Formats: sequence, C-alpha cells, structure tokens
Amino acid sequence: MDSMSTAILLLLLALIYLFLTISSKGKGQLPPGPRPLPFLGNLLQLRSQDMLTSLTKLSKKYGSVYTVYLGPRRVVVLSGYQAVKEALVDQGEEFSGRGDYPVFLNFTKGNGIAFSNGDRWKVLRRFSVQILRNFGMGKRSIEERILEESNFLLAELRKTEGEPFDPTFVLSRSVSNIICSVIFGSRFDYEDERLLNIIHLINENFQIMSSPWGELYNIFPSLLDWLPGPHRCLFQNFGRMKDLIARSVRDHQATLDPESPRDFIDCFLTKIAQEKQDPLSHFHMDTLLMTTHNLIFGGTETVGTTLRHAFLVLLKYPKVQARVQEEIDRVVGRERLPALEDRPAMPYTDAVIHEVQRFADVIPMSLPHRVIRDTAFRGFLLPKGTDIITLLNTVHYDPSQFLTPQEFNPEHFLDASQSFKKSPAFMPFSAGRRLCLGESLARMELFLYFTAILQNFSLQPLGAPEDIDLTPISSGLGNLPRPFQLRLRAR
Ligand code: HEM
Repeated sequence: MDSMSTAILLLLLALIYLFLTISSKGKGQLPPGPRPLPFLGNLLQLRSQDMLTSLTKLSKKYGSVYTVYLGPRRVVVLSGYQAVKEALVDQGEEFSGRGDYPVFLNFTKGNGIAFSNGDRWKVLRRFSVQILRNFGMGKRSIEERILEESNFLLAELRKTEGEPFDPTFVLSRSVSNIICSVIFGSRFDYEDERLLNIIHLINENFQIMSSPWGELYNIFPSLLDWLPGPHRCLFQNFGRMKDLIARSVRDHQATLDPESPRDFIDCFLTKIAQEKQDPLSHFHMDTLLMTTHNLIFGGTETVGTTLRHAFLVLLKYPKVQARVQEEIDRVVGRERLPALEDRPAMPYTDAVIHEVQRFADVIPMSLPHRVIRDTAFRGFLLPKGTDIITLLNTVHYDPSQFLTPQEFNPEHFLDASQSFKKSPAFMPFSAGRRLCLGESLARMELFLYFTAILQNFSLQPLGAPEDIDLTPISSGLGNLPRPFQLRLRAR
C-alpha cells in the first residue's frame, strides 16, 4: 500500500472513530439496536419503501425497546402493548414531547398543535379543545351537525343508482365538512371550489406521506430538498392549503364581532387581539393558520380512510354486514337515523367499528414523540430530546392482547355474553398526553356514518368477496386501503 492510500485509510478510520464517539455522546444508557453507519445510520437494515415492516422486524430481533438510526437521526422504537402503555400512559409527562417529523415540520415550523412543543403546545392544545367544546364537540349539537351531514351524504350515495363507484371522494367531502363547519362557520356545498380543493390537497398529501417518498423525506430532508420528486408536490399543496385558510381568515377579520364569535377562526382572532400587547403570546397569525391546518388535516383523511377500510371489510365479509344491519333494524328501525344514544344497545355494531379501527390501524406508527427530560425507562436512560416512535401496529396486532390478531374478528371486542368489551390495547388514537385531539368527534362520526349508510344501503362487491385484499396498498403516515369500487343496493 503506498503512502497516499495509507493516509486515506487512516483518515477514514479516524472519521469513523470520530462519528462513533460523537454519536455515543449524550447517549445515556440507550437500548440496544443495530450498529449504524456514518450518515446512512441503519438505512441498510431499513427498507424505506416499507419502514413499518422494517421497524416491526427489528423489534423481533432487538426487543420491545430498541435504538435505530434513521439516517443521522437517533430514535428509540417502542413496540407491543406493554412497552407503549408504560411510556405513553404510565410515564405520560416524560414522553409527551413531539419528535421531528420533517414533512410537517418544514411547513408548520412548530406553529400548530400537532408539531409544537413545550408551552406553545400546551397553550394551543388547551385553547383548541376548549373552543371545539364550545362549538359542540363531544356534545349533542355536534351530533346534530353530523346527522345533518349524513343526510347530505346519503342523498349523494342514492345518486349512484346501483352503478359501481369509488367511495373515496364522496366520503372525504362529507367528513371534511364537519370539521370545516366548526372552523369556518358553515358547511360547504359539495360542489364548492374551496371544499373540493381542501379534499384534493389533503388526499394527495396523505398519499405522498404514506409513500416511500414521504418516508425518505423524513430521513434525509436536506438532501431531498435538492432533488426532484413527488415530495415537492407536498410543499406546494401545503402552501395552497395555507393560502386557502389565510383567505378565509381575511374574510373573517373584515366581519368579526368579538361579542358573538361564529366559529373557531373568530375565537382565535379575538384571542390574538386580547393578547396583542404580550410579546410572549402564542396567539398570532402563524399559529392560527397552522392550528387550523392541523385540525382540518387531522379531521379529514383519517376518518375517511377508516370508513373506506370499513367498506372493504363489509364487502369481504357479507355475514358481518348482515348482522350489523339486523342489529340496526332491531334497535333503530328504518324511520329515523341511528343516534349516539342507540350505541349502548348495539354491541355488535360497536365491536365491528372497534375491530375495523384495530385491524385497519390507520396511523400505524402514530406521530413521533420525544422525551422532554432525561428519562429512566425499563432499565435504560433516555437522554432528554430523544425521539420515540411508538409502533401502534404492534399494539393492535399484539398476540398477548388479541386472540387472533391477524384476522378480522369482532369477537375481540365482545365478551362471552356478546356484550361490548373494551380493550386497553385499542389505541388508534394513541394514548396519554398527546392522545388525538379529535378522538371524541371521530368516534361519533364513525358510528353515525357507518350506521346511517348500512341502515339505508347494502354494500355489494364487483367481484368475489374472497378475492378482496385487505392488506394496505402503502404504509407510512397512514395505512392506505387498496383502491376499490362497489355498488350500493337501496334497502
Ligand atoms: C379515525 C380518526 C382519527 C385517527 C385514527 C387519529 C389518530 C391520531 C393519532 C394516532 C395521533 C397522534 C397521537 C400521538 O402523537 O400520540 C393524532 C393526533 C392528532 N389528531 Fe387525530 N385522529 C383521528 C381523527 C382526528 C380528528 C377528527 C381531528 C380533528 C378534530 C384530529 C386532530 C388531531 C390533532 C390536532 C392531533 C395532534 C395532537 C397533539 O399533538 O397534541 N384527529 N390523531
């Protein structure tokens, strides 16, 4: 070996040594995991086109708590009901921070609820929960709004007249209208440009974020910022959505009466005015735009995607569909729409909806968390600021919690006397301090839409039920069902 090659080799060794020393600094006593390479981290062990499967596989080798490097970023991964519950519930405060999520963070700059930390997160979350409650969330008034909206949806569905159609668009428009009416003050007509834009932008972004490009962007954001690809569309869409909200905010400003707020935006604008003199206030135009965006984004695609999964399951298992319809007919009849007060008398339907949410596992890796102080956890010491991924899919498919986790089986939520049975491992909305802010609204929507549709229609597949594939077409931020068409037969 000549002296030049020796020098290069020595330099390389020195660099690797330096990397290993730096990356082990501030490590506390981190859980074990695969050894990372400089810059690439554990990319060789991860297939970015299917991060979920790769991370789940690693948990089989390294246990329910392990360390992995997503590129240069160090993350601790938790899997299985017990570990996730101990972190999010038993040590909820420590694990309540929000970890890096570059696809969102580069847009929100930490200004909304979902991607902020510390005081800002607490203040914005408390305020938003309060305002949403004032506008009926979790109460009878929002139920009435959902029932009104389901009537519009049923009218749209009748127009299909038994012809095959893809339900994505029609469901999203209707679901989105509920949260939009709270944010903007009134529902949109289904042909309104603004609603169509919102649906299109959110749907496209949810798809990109659930694709390999979304995953890759989260690992190497600064590199991908230089490269062409669908991820560029993400930020254009985010920008358009922000413009759309900003236009509505300007209209609100022009007609605002602080004494009688019409909606979420009015309340936020009033709060901005009240705290104008406070330089440390968290209420300003950017937090308004991003909080509003978080609520619309969170409230649109998740519920729509869950309903699409539910449709697919019902198409595949006609007996389940028939039994739900039998229960609706017996408890509610056909003269009025099902209401929330019917739910306790409908254990089978309730169990089916819970099982759809478990089985579909719509947000399989939740959103990343972060420990907000040095945290002792299961014999390890996680340094303050360590990002945490909670694999909700491993909770929903945990064999210690569900008898036949790989199968769609409503019995998971029924006891021996066929009464509804809760499961602590039911976590589609996550758990602890960061629990989905829209949980109560989403659960109302799912029950009321699901039952209204099945009361009025039977869902029929275009081919043989056994050929229906329930595995997602892609998994990332979301578990997306395969595209499909169906026919509706009026009952
Ligand atoms: C089936 C429907 C839904 C599912 C499966 C779902 C799931 C989730 C999950 C897994 C998280 C992350 C929790 C964590 O970090 O631990 C989350 C957060 C959030 N969701 Fe939902 N969600 C749904 C509906 C909604 C609705 C209807 C809204 C709006 C009203 C909403 C607004 C939010 C917000 C604002 C956050 C961030 C909370 C925070 O960081 O403090 N979600 N959701």
